[in-house]
Amino acid sequence: MNILTSKVEASRANEVDATNIQFGKSYSDHMLVADYIDGVWQTPQIIPYGNISISPATTFIHYGQSIFEGVKAYKNIHGEVAIFRPKDNNKRFNISAERLAMPHVPEEIFVGGMKELVALDSDWVPNQDGCSLYIRPFMFAIDEFIGVKPAEKFRFMIITSPAGQYYNKPTKIYVQDKYVRAFPGGIGFTKAAGNYAACMLPMLEVKALGYDQNLWTDGIEHKYIHEIGTMNVFFVLGDKVVTPDLSGGTILAGVTRDSVIKLLKEKGITVEERPITIDEIREYYYKGELKEAFGTGTAAVIAPIAELYYDGQTLELPPVDEWQISNWVAKHIADIRYGKVEDTHHWMMKVK
Ligand code: COI
Repeated sequence: MNILTSKVEASRANEVDATNIQFGKSYSDHMLVADYIDGVWQTPQIIPYGNISISPATTFIHYGQSIFEGVKAYKNIHGEVAIFRPKDNNKRFNISAERLAMPHVPEEIFVGGMKELVALDSDWVPNQDGCSLYIRPFMFAIDEFIGVKPAEKFRFMIITSPAGQYYNKPTKIYVQDKYVRAFPGGIGFTKAAGNYAACMLPMLEVKALGYDQNLWTDGIEHKYIHEIGTMNVFFVLGDKVVTPDLSGGTILAGVTRDSVIKLLKEKGITVEERPITIDEIREYYYKGELKEAFGTGTAAVIAPIAELYYDGQTLELPPVDEWQISNWVAKHIADIRYGKVEDTHHWMMKVK
């Protein structure tokens, strides 16, 4: 695919403090931009990272036709840079796009453009354990029109940012039983910007109480567990791993979630994808059988949960260093990403 590239005169890569990489604080030298006009994707461009100029009447600002993805590139122990499962994020992006009446972004732009961008900015991919280059593809409606109708013009962009750990200690989670993130027939399964907007006030409220995030429950009974604000959720109940199933259309089909399920099953561990109620989690807790709880996501990777607050009760998990299952899967997925074990699933796509 033809990509027009204009490079920066001098890289800023050496300005990043490799000993203190904070999520979302610095952005690499270049970004990718491609516009969809008159039903056709225009030639993508890789240009120096910087501000963009748009009309105040641009549709997405008013009506929120805007979606995104999260992907990561790693520098392995051989010094090679590879992106984790970018085609799967492209598929999920297009599922979000369909629901928001936006065009599909073809693989040659989403994955091909991403590979070129990451190859060009490969000096920005950290090589310390636990670090990566976070890749943020996103698309928004750019019609200059404030009437309410699906837009006709769209902009797809990719920016990248060096990332360390998203959570630097086990998280404290508030089981949300007042606000609602998603309901059947809605957009809960998409990475629409609006899903995150709706979570900001509840997030502020639980942060003020000392919690890191909400665990969302269903919108009808507040009984079935959905997902955490930044990640999917898993519980180890006895010797089984359980995670909410995707059938209701209210939960994001996480790529990390899918990878964890595959790796655990291959290891011979029982994984159940099914509806789970908060009462079931509580029953296992009081039987002493709630062994581990963790979130999975691109940014968060595998994030242990220290405690869950629900309806006046705090469920405290055992110390994380005693956990067998999530510590194993966290190490194994890291070993695949850093090239320490064979990538039998062909999840790593090398950029050069
Ligand atoms: C990700 O894990 O990539 C996400 O999109 C979650 C969050 C940073 C918004």
